[in-house]
Amino acid sequence: MKNSDTNKELKMLVGRAAAALIQDGMVCGLGTGSTAACMIEELGRRVREERLQIVGVPTSFQSRILCRKYGIPTRDIQDCAELDLAIDGADEVDPQLNLIKGGGAAHTREKIVAAMAKEFIVIVDQSKLVSRLNQSFPIPVEVVPEALRFVQDVIGRLGGECQLRMGLRKDGPVITDNGQFVLDVQFPPTADLREIDRVLHHTPGVVETGLFFDLARKVLVGYAASFEVKTLVK
Ligand code: A5P
Repeated sequence: MKNSDTNKELKMLVGRAAAALIQDGMVCGLGTGSTAACMIEELGRRVREERLQIVGVPTSFQSRILCRKYGIPTRDIQDCAELDLAIDGADEVDPQLNLIKGGGAAHTREKIVAAMAKEFIVIVDQSKLVSRLNQSFPIPVEVVPEALRFVQDVIGRLGGECQLRMGLRKDGPVITDNGQFVLDVQFPPTADLREIDRVLHHTPGVVETGLFFDLARKVLVGYAASFEVKTLVK
């Protein structure tokens, strides 16, 4: 699904810029993926060296493991009423700062945390900027296993082509942190993705889609040529 090793230095640059925005006393949602991992690593350095007092709210087992590794205190999502900030990567960002997320199958918790945060900041390298979502990256849809066939049929009627995400070095489908399956879905270029998202949210068995409409107000983008970070604001 993803090549997480590409642009490591650029991801570190953006990760550092994002970690610098976190202030003493904040309760902060921490995303999943290789870019978020760079941010978590830098945040751990600040906790250690600057004695920054924060609480991280991880969006996946993977991010929780990283928090533990880097000494960042954590709190479960369900123990938070709201978050001061959430920072996360994305698979695609369109000109309106709408996103596709879920390349790492963590989009359900990521969307919950983004919605709970007073501010949601996205961190990407320039390769994630697209003119239109879902031209090349499929939309991840988390599905209750029992509803797989039913949801596949609904998506088919909407014009989408589904692939059940399969595990690497594990036989069978990917199982999310929530115990569900993921369908990766490609729609035709003319598809109305907002309407599709609305229909999917009314489809029993769909847990969450990887379409993030109107959640991000700020995107930090790392540019390879100039090796600098620019901020896109909505
Ligand atoms: C995790 O499920 C995703 O939403 C990630 O945030 C997204 O795939 C970006 O990951 P990378 O930073 O590894 O590209």
